[in-house]
Amino acid sequence: MQCEIRFLPSDRTLEISSGEMTLLEATRAVDLPIASACGENGACARCGLEILEGLENLADETERERVIKERNRIDPELRLACRVRPRGHLTVRAPYW
Ligand code: FES
Repeated sequence: MQCEIRFLPSDRTLEISSGEMTLLEATRAVDLPIASACGENGACARCGLEILEGLENLADETERERVIKERNRIDPELRLACRVRPRGHLTVRAPYW
């Protein structure tokens, strides 16, 4: 299944196969900057993105993801881009795009 990922506010889009890459890898594929201070190991929470549409196309948040966000004091509604693989259409946003 093909998924379209839309990145706001820059309004870039990327088409990928379901589960093909992490959301963090997808942001790099469209040349959008994304922070990472942990080697994409789900430890720093710098890669948190707002999911505007398609949350149901991501796996449920794990306990580890919840704890990492809490420990790093980021909005619990954000998802860690290095931890999730889109399995359907998504619209995501970062204020610095
Ligand atoms: S890059 Fe560090 S938690 Fe995602």
